[in-house]
Amino acid sequence: MPAKIISGKQIAADIRQELKAEVSELRRNQIFPKLVVVLVGNHPASESYVKGKIRAAEEIGMESVLIRLEDTISEQELLDKVDELNKDTTVHGILVQLPLPKQISEQRIIEAIAAEKDVDGFHPESVGRMVIGLETFLSCTPQGIIELLQRSDVPIQGKHAVVVGRSNIVGKPVALLLLQKDATVTICHSKTSDLAAITKQADILIAAVGRAEMITRDHVKPGAVVIDVGVNRTEKGLVGDVKFDEVSEIASAITPVPGGVGPMTITMLMANTIESAKRHAR
Ligand code: GUN
Repeated sequence: MPAKIISGKQIAADIRQELKAEVSELRRNQIFPKLVVVLVGNHPASESYVKGKIRAAEEIGMESVLIRLEDTISEQELLDKVDELNKDTTVHGILVQLPLPKQISEQRIIEAIAAEKDVDGFHPESVGRMVIGLETFLSCTPQGIIELLQRSDVPIQGKHAVVVGRSNIVGKPVALLLLQKDATVTICHSKTSDLAAITKQADILIAAVGRAEMITRDHVKPGAVVIDVGVNRTEKGLVGDVKFDEVSEIASAITPVPGGVGPMTITMLMANTIESAKRHAR
């Protein structure tokens, strides 16, 4: 039986409806959640991601501002801009789109964003709090993946989740969130030997490596749930890390690319910004 397609697009649309209602309730109480997105330069993929974020904010009735800066900007000028946004009490979420030009240390910028406005969840304080299970902003893609699983009624507790990829923004945090939901978690990466032997044990397989269609049917146990985080631009167009056609024949459920994890990431950014505005009001 072919896999059920987990439509991130549909689930994200449902959540955005809920968020829209929440924003209008907050606005009635004079709370106006506001997201500021900073785009340095005009990296084509970043342009497209940033547009998606601004559009999503508009869709749910939330205020958003896009600040465009020249790619020749110095690190100090960007730090000054971040500082100004940190001090602006009308701003609840600050997102500096990555990657940044080479004269700027991404880590320094991430650490300059006030933790209480870090809706990306990239600040070391946010990451540290996540690791020990304290209230914080969870980074958006990992949080979106958990929402996708939960809203698709995929059980996590006691299941073997295998994460392929160990990036700071997806692999490591999603592994920890799955662990918090009582999965047994294995993390694989580019140096893992006999990858397929491990991924074949997965009840839940998360592919977050950034290599076009590297997960084939030989990597997947029949009946597994497969979440494809890859966004790879190839001559064929946008493809994931999973060879969709063949894996969807044996998985029990699978996310498509596009229309899977991507819309969830943006939606979680909106949720984090609303949460930030609520915390600020308390
Ligand atoms: N570049 C690609 N994805 C992201 C993201 O989630 N946040 C930021 N700030 N930059 C990105």
